[in-house]
Amino acid sequence: MSKHITAHSYQVSKEDRNKLYKHKSLLLWFTGLSGSGKSTIANIVEQKLFSLGFHTYSLDGDNIRKGINSDLSFSPEDRTENIRRIAETANLMIDAGIVVLAAFVSPYKKDRENIKSVVKDVNFVEIYINTSLEECERRDVKGLYKKARAGEIKNMTGISAPYEAPNNPDLEIKTENETVEEAAQRIIDYIKPKIKLEL
Ligand code: ADX
Repeated sequence: MSKHITAHSYQVSKEDRNKLYKHKSLLLWFTGLSGSGKSTIANIVEQKLFSLGFHTYSLDGDNIRKGINSDLSFSPEDRTENIRRIAETANLMIDAGIVVLAAFVSPYKKDRENIKSVVKDVNFVEIYINTSLEECERRDVKGLYKKARAGEIKNMTGISAPYEAPNNPDLEIKTENETVEEAAQRIIDYIKPKIKLEL
């Protein structure tokens, strides 16, 4: 960061926006293997929240990597930079008063820890979508596992790159034992008290 930069403070605050929107901001961070169901569940949670009147926005690995992060690969360094930029983006959205849903593989513990330090603990909910590699590979919605097994894709999480599972996530969803609807409802029940505005 340049030493010649001075932060400017604006009069409309996060708290003002939260009052206007009648709810607090929050970041729901979905982590898990590719094909585990992160985006599917985040999508249902967002629809439910939106229909209840919450101001929401979804950030998703495949979409972000087509735009703002199109310069990044799947090397460990670029994944770290991917998550760092998303954490900063989510932080702006938190300041904007929004409930942000972020679905990224985010395989490294240290990168997920860093998100917490950017957005602050109170704004962060870690949701581990725990679907086994066998099941993700069986689903193989995008055909990526097949390509990775054939050596056509390098650094594939779960095959040729690591996934460090969270030790103590706020919520753990096992999609092999629970429907996506049930999972989405469990997430809503967990976060509702956190986004409720005490007046
Ligand atoms: S992260 O590891 O940097 O957090 P991110 O969530 O942005 O990953 O992107 C993951 C998506 O990119 C996957 O859902 C998958 O569709 C696609 N993808 C392409 N190549 C890979 C790879 N080598 N490892 C994991 N996902 C990949």
